[in-house]
Amino acid sequence: MKKKIGILTGGGDCPGLNPAIRGCVYGAEKYGYECVGITDGWKGLVEGTTTPLSREITEYIIMKGGTMLGTSRTNPYKVEGNVDKCLATFKKLGLHALVAMGGDDTLGVATKLYRDHKLNVIGVPKTMDNDLNVTDFTFGFDTSVTKAMEAAQALLDTGASHHRVMVLEVMGRHAGWVALYTGIAAAADYVCIPERQINTEEMIKKIKDAYARKKYALVVTSEASELPAAGEDKSKHAVDQFGHRILKDRGMGEHIASFIEKQTGIETRSAVIGHMQRGGAPTLFDRMLATRVGLKAAELVRDGQWGQMSALVGNKYVGVPLENATGELKTVNKEWFDLMEVLF
Ligand code: F6P
Repeated sequence: MKKKIGILTGGGDCPGLNPAIRGCVYGAEKYGYECVGITDGWKGLVEGTTTPLSREITEYIIMKGGTMLGTSRTNPYKVEGNVDKCLATFKKLGLHALVAMGGDDTLGVATKLYRDHKLNVIGVPKTMDNDLNVTDFTFGFDTSVTKAMEAAQALLDTGASHHRVMVLEVMGRHAGWVALYTGIAAAADYVCIPERQINTEEMIKKIKDAYARKKYALVVTSEASELPAAGEDKSKHAVDQFGHRILKDRGMGEHIASFIEKQTGIETRSAVIGHMQRGGAPTLFDRMLATRVGLKAAELVRDGQWGQMSALVGNKYVGVPLENATGELKTVNKEWFDLMEVLF
């Protein structure tokens, strides 16, 4: 009888999950394993819900956004007894290994299951936020930023026609990578990221200068930027099962737009790209990256490298300890702050 690998995808979906599942299934079958899909992330492992997976089933999913396995933000460590349920499902399904595809939260759970229960677990790095350590990139990021860049360019057209300041709010949670790459690629005049409190005087000056030159300006902001003037009541924040603040109602783009309009007297509009940047077909880069980390995960299973995550490190696909990838986020650093000074 063939040994069985369970595959799950957890946390926010992103383009690249399907190619990664496919890569893992193709690799696993090549090495003599069979695969089964655990549906809806850790929730599926708690509840024991599965779906079949094979080379035939996954053949044409490489071009599809989202995840064919479904996902959730369920944290089994949040409810007493749920970790035991995960371990029981692993046993009941007769799994030899579990491949968990996700970001810091999903892989944080995988890290603990390996550390505390020596579960045969392998991680695969995904997230549009690109904030996982020890991998150069996570799949989902390239597609999301490409979409955000296109949205920013569209805003430039209408902003230039109406002689307005346009503000685009993008996702990315606690890391400013999405805002930063979008701003650079769309020739923004100012970018706001959570790693650096907005210097309002500097921002207003740069916008006024840009407007004086070309009669429009573009600002890209992360959903999690801090505007001192926004006057938020932080005690009212809703959080998810991993303790992350839910940012969707925060309206940072709108706060920044009204601040700019008040300070400059220039008509200003804001737009939020939201979940649109997380759906749709993966870019070529994400299809390749996801396929390769999926294949590498199957290789790590074959080699019994439990507690490892497949990663892209300087053009090579390697295994790295899961615990080095989770716990601390990879955020925008000083090197990039210096570049921002040059570019914006
Ligand atoms: O972590 C990915 C992400 O898209 C973040 O950028 C964003 O803050 C969050 O998920 C949104 O989560 P949800 O889809 O649960 O609203």
